[in-house]
This record gives sequence, C-alpha cells and structure tokens, in this order.
Amino acid sequence: MSKVTAIVLAAGKGSRMKRSIPKQFLEVKGRPLIAYSLEAFEKSMVDEIILVTGENSIDFCSQIVKIYEISKCTSIVPGGEVRALSVYNGIKASSGDYVLIHDGARPLISQRLIADTIEAVEKYPAVVPVIPVKDTIRQLMPDGSLDDAFDRSALLGMQTPQAFVREEILKAYHKLIDEKTDFSTVTDDVMIMEKALHIHAHPVAGEELNKKITTPEDLAWLNSEL
Ligand code: CTP
Ligand code: MG
Repeated sequence: MSKVTAIVLAAGKGSRMKRSIPKQFLEVKGRPLIAYSLEAFEKSMVDEIILVTGENSIDFCSQIVKIYEISKCTSIVPGGEVRALSVYNGIKASSGDYVLIHDGARPLISQRLIADTIEAVEKYPAVVPVIPVKDTIRQLMPDGSLDDAFDRSALLGMQTPQAFVREEILKAYHKLIDEKTDFSTVTDDVMIMEKALHIHAHPVAGEELNKKITTPEDLAWLNSEL
C-alpha cells in the first residue's frame, strides 16, 4: 500500500490580511483558521500530516494539533523565507510515496477534492486542482496601458492541494537548488516540476469554495460561509 503525506503550509506572515497575527491563526467561528484544513486531512485517507510554520509558532501549533486531535500530524517543522522553501522543508520531513501540498490558508478543502487528488497522483507525477477564470484577464503593459484580453476559455486558476510523487519533486528541488534558482519567483508547486524536469501537471477539478483566504474581504466571506 502506498503512503500519502499532506504537507500543510502555515509559515506565511499574512501581510495582505493586515492583522497583528498571521492569518492562519485568526479565530474563525471559534477555531483557528489552520485547524480547518488540518481537520479535513485528519478525516481523509492521507496517512501522515506535516505542518510547516514559523519558528516562533511551533509551540502554538503543537497546542492546536493537541486540542483538535490531529493524530496524523507527525512533525511540525519550521518554514522558509519564501513559500517554495517552506514546501521543501515539509517534503524533507515527510515519508509518503506521494505528497499533497496544501495552503493552510484554504480552510474549505473538501473530502472529494482530497480523494480526487490522491487518485490522480497515483497515475501522474504532478497534479493540480484548477477552476475556470470568471473575470476577463488583461496584462498591464509597462506604459500603463492594457494589452488585448486573454481568451478566457483557455485560462484556469490554480489551487491546492497540488500533489506529487515525492521522489520526483525532491529531484526537481535538488536540481533547482544546484542551479541557484531564485525561489521567490515560484508561486506554486507545479512550477517546480515544470522548471526543473519539464513535467506538466495533470489537472483535476478544483472548487470555488476552496478559496485562499488572503484579504480582510476573504475573511468576511469565510465567516459568512461557515
Ligand atoms: N507560506 C509559507 N511560507 C512562506 C510563505 C507562505 O508556508 N514563507 C504559506 C502561507 O502560510 C499560506 C500559503 O503559503 O498558507 C499561501 O501563501 P499566501 O496566501 O501568500 O500567505 P502569506 O504569504 O502568509 O500572505 P501574504 O502574501 O499576504 O503575506
Ligand atoms: Mg505570500
């Protein structure tokens, strides 16, 4: 039987939320935001959870893991300066054949999405949940004007959990580290596989509800959804 690890990211500063504590620790309907995704993975078929957080938040996260009885959480590890390096620390601490990398700032992840992602990564080395883009997207040009609109039907929004064969994504990270890649330009995990190994991700259907909580408006939305 293959083993599956969920790596839950909670090492960001939440600067766009403009609150004194990182957004993943804000209380939402009586629970810290990060508890929602931890509970979803606890209930799911994943075997192991690795929580990645700031060096100074490790003790606080251990309390959350205890209070919410996240028995699958085997390690809480410090994050990196940028998201991709937090992911790398999480992968190194994991022991699954497959890794699911999830933004702890996406609390409303469903069991359906976790199951579909696992099913797909058993067939493809890289998997990403996607949703259709609803707004028309244009590129801002250096002179301040707007370029022609992209064909919306060909655009997709990327979500998490993005899933990988652990050995493959580790190989990709090692190659990029050797090449002294600037990880601050990497905004999601499938980019790592594309940049290093030219492996393109297989899409699975994401969900509108699986929104990343980024701004105060997103937080208000979450409170109204729950
Ligand atoms: N993250 C992380 N380590 C980092 C940066 C981000 O683990 N060095 C995590 C965040 O905690 C979050 C997820 O990656 O769960 C997505 O990042 P984002 O929404 O950008 O969160 P923040 O970086 O915290 O927010 P901001 O960019 O507004 O500062
Ligand atoms: Mg960020």
